[in-house]
Amino acid sequence: METIFSGIQPSGTPTIGNYIGAMKQFIALQEEYNCYYCIVDEHAITVPQDRLKLRKQTKSLAALYLAVGLNPEKSTIFIQSEVPAHTQAAWIVQCNIPLGELERMTQFKDKSSKSGRTSVSAGLLTYPPLMVADIILYQSNLVPVGEDQKQHLELTRDFVDRFNNKYSNGEPILTLPEVKIPKFGGRIMSLQEPTKKMSKSDTNQKGFISMLDEPTVIRKKLKSAVTDSSGVIEYDVENKPGISNLLTIFSSFSGESIENLVARYAGAGYGTFKDELADAVIAVMEPIQERYNDLLTSDELTTILDNGALAANTVANKTLRKMKNAVGLGRK
Ligand code: AQP
Repeated sequence: METIFSGIQPSGTPTIGNYIGAMKQFIALQEEYNCYYCIVDEHAITVPQDRLKLRKQTKSLAALYLAVGLNPEKSTIFIQSEVPAHTQAAWIVQCNIPLGELERMTQFKDKSSKSGRTSVSAGLLTYPPLMVADIILYQSNLVPVGEDQKQHLELTRDFVDRFNNKYSNGEPILTLPEVKIPKFGGRIMSLQEPTKKMSKSDTNQKGFISMLDEPTVIRKKLKSAVTDSSGVIEYDVENKPGISNLLTIFSSFSGESIENLVARYAGAGYGTFKDELADAVIAVMEPIQERYNDLLTSDELTTILDNGALAANTVANKTLRKMKNAVGLGRK
């Protein structure tokens, strides 16, 4: 069975973008792969976090993983900081990646341009090597992510090639992973600025739908989503980014093709369309939220995360030993 690794940062409550781009893939893939799904809390602290809030969000994300349908019998679910091999391997990765490659990462450029290059944490620059470490430690074959992570996956593949060429004599030490981006819904856009990615840490609450937003809030946010003045429901990302984004969200939640949706809503106003879109989103989110509330107060969550950490540590330490050996760290 091939292996999958992916993770989400507990930097807030996941949005429907995280759900469509990442979580939906996680659920489908756990039937066919050996899956490791991580809560990447060490990535979250690359930008300032409130410690109590971060803890709460970490636990909340674990409960959401289970609520959307991740099955601990099939997938290993764990918290990154409970597997020390991640940061240890990240150091070896950092020492084998040219600085220029990190400075070219668009996520670093975006986030550092907002608050100024000299004031952001060094971790923001060295976060991609930590992501490389996350992936290689499990000898992952496939990494399901949204479109924004494509560049990090390219960095991972370049690193694996370079590391194997430099250090292995015969059998490759590390597995070369493939990226898996959904054909559709890999980049859900902000409801307020539809040319910008929907993000859970957006300061404009109206720009995203959180997976824990109450049905009335979901409806309100969709109702106030930016569209255009033409009143025509058609899919045209360039000229009508707002309505195109809403069509993508609708299709992802209802399973109906964009073509069908466009035909069904021909002549209908944006108001009716948005109302029925809200029905489709709420129909999926409401049962997830109910399961989430039950899980959050159960002991089950603690046991699942303890077992996940145990299983992940075993596999990750094995690869870390190989990496340390390859570069000559320690005595053996
Ligand atoms: N808008 C999106 N559309 C589709 N997929 C998305 N992902 C994120 N945003 C969208 C995918 O979700 C997974 C987890 O992302 P992450 O939490 O590790 O970090 P991120 O990509 O930086 O997500 P956010 O929501 O934008 O978080 P913040 O605001 O904290 O930076 C990834 O697979 C990602 O591609």
